[in-house]
Amino acid sequence: MIRVANLNKTFYNGWLNKRSFRAVQNISFDIAQGETLGLIGESGCGKSTLSRLILKLIPADPGGTIVFNGVDISDYSMKQMRPLRKEMQILFQHPDSALNPRQTILNSLLEPITLHQLMNREEGTAKVLDLLELVGLSRDLLYRFPHQVSGGQVQRVVIARALTLEPKLLVLDEPTSMLDVSVQAQVVELLQNIQKQFQMAYLFISHDLDLVRHTCSRMAVMHQGSIVELGNSESIMEQPEHPYTQQLTKAFMAYTSAK
Ligand SMILES: Nc1ncnc2c1ncn2[C@@H]1O[C@H](COP(=O)(O)OP(=O)(O)O)[C@@H](O)[C@H]1O
Ligand SMILES: [Mg+2]
Repeated sequence: MIRVANLNKTFYNGWLNKRSFRAVQNISFDIAQGETLGLIGESGCGKSTLSRLILKLIPADPGGTIVFNGVDISDYSMKQMRPLRKEMQILFQHPDSALNPRQTILNSLLEPITLHQLMNREEGTAKVLDLLELVGLSRDLLYRFPHQVSGGQVQRVVIARALTLEPKLLVLDEPTSMLDVSVQAQVVELLQNIQKQFQMAYLFISHDLDLVRHTCSRMAVMHQGSIVELGNSESIMEQPEHPYTQQLTKAFMAYTSAK
């Protein structure tokens, strides 16, 4: 579904933008239809920047390649991207900021449908009701505002909204990091069921090794802007090759045996 090769991103700042910082360095990977690739790495290593790059929400440095569903979109302009936008969706880390606080849940869910002019309001509402059922939410929620529902419910609404456009690729940027552990497990299970049903490709970003090894058959380990290791999750857990991955798994083992 997506293949990226040699992606780089340099940020410039300071006096006359003379200071530069390479947040993403020479990254390559692919994700098949229906597959989940885990992306693990500590805060600040460049995970969110990478996710914005592959969705072309920010431009990459020249030279890299992004092929989405067989189409080379590396040099696509924002205008050329427009029809593809609905096929690639992202779930952000902070679900609270993903919804407009002054809009009812219903209007938030209808927004992408009306924005892309896919259906009229009546058809759209029928679709929203189906999706609400799919994510396990009651219709009572539709006329509430985001502050009137729980964190777990907000995240379900955000998932439903991403699904209104039937994307082929879903980037999950630490989708459960703000949730309680018990709610986290439910949301992860929901995401897995939805994936089976719609055969979406997932890029599952997390700093939680336990979560990634259980949800992703393959994982990529990111460190200081680079992917230092990529492969079968269990093999990486059992035999980490890169020193950073070794450090990560060792800390993880120590933590789980202490529990
Ligand atoms: N727009 C920006 N301008 C300059 N630096 C940025 C920008 N966005 C992110 N960064 C820097 O890039 C690095 C990676 O950030 P980010 O991708 O958010 O990491 P992660 O999601 O892994 O926590 C950080 O050092 C961050 O400060
Ligand atoms: Mg991030």
